[in-house]
Amino acid sequence: PTKQQLLYEGKAKKIYATDEADVLWVEYKDSATAFNGEKKATITGKGRLNNEISSLLFMKLQEAGVANHFIQKLSPTEQLVKSVTIIPLEVVVRNVVAGSLAKRIGLAEGTPLEVPLVEFYYKNDDLGDPLLLEDHITILKLASREEIAQLKSEALKVNDVLRAHFAERKVRLIDFKLEFGRTTDGAILLADEVSPDTCRLWDAETNEKLDKDVFRRDLGSLTEAYEVILQRLGGESACI
Ligand code: C5P
Repeated sequence: PTKQQLLYEGKAKKIYATDEADVLWVEYKDSATAFNGEKKATITGKGRLNNEISSLLFMKLQEAGVANHFIQKLSPTEQLVKSVTIIPLEVVVRNVVAGSLAKRIGLAEGTPLEVPLVEFYYKNDDLGDPLLLEDHITILKLASREEIAQLKSEALKVNDVLRAHFAERKVRLIDFKLEFGRTTDGAILLADEVSPDTCRLWDAETNEKLDKDVFRRDLGSLTEAYEVILQRLGGESACI
């Protein structure tokens, strides 16, 4: 396919049309944002790291039977994906208490959860991405009951696959956020990205944070942390 017009520019990616109707061209940007866009920075190399990591993880998920939008990596910062209509939900899976869960329910960050927790948030910047109950999702007509059940079971399957994959590479998968979309025939497909921007990843031995919390909490070099993740996943490091 060939790259056509820019369709959408988000905080971390640009999405272009291609000459094929159901194929999109994604470019990962060197920008980092947090706290609903209040904190921003340009971080050279971040686009490449997230494109590489996301490509590897989408391929791993595909092998493991989790259908997703990834088609192929095009360049260090670009990939081709299947076009879907994104469902405006953030599906979060948690294995260990961290981030907003620690604040919401008062358990200490780092407390393991006996059973993975699945949460839904409304993708809506004006409302600040609020937590939604399943009944809220139904009232808002964002997804049917059957689809909600499917989103939950797919998210838990992603968790099983990625948790084991990271554990073999000495990384703890603390939590992550997924987005799903509908294809023209109504099937639900995992979409967006799976990267250290959207996952909390801690070193298995030291619990060092190797994810976007490095940026959110000013803990050091984000690209060094993401480079560790890429290397442990077997990816190629940059020729600097
Ligand atoms: O902030 P919170 O603890 O709810 O985040 C849970 C997980 O979802 C974290 O891995 C975080 O990186 C991810 N997340 C995301 N995009 C958001 C909100 C959370 O990728 N808008």
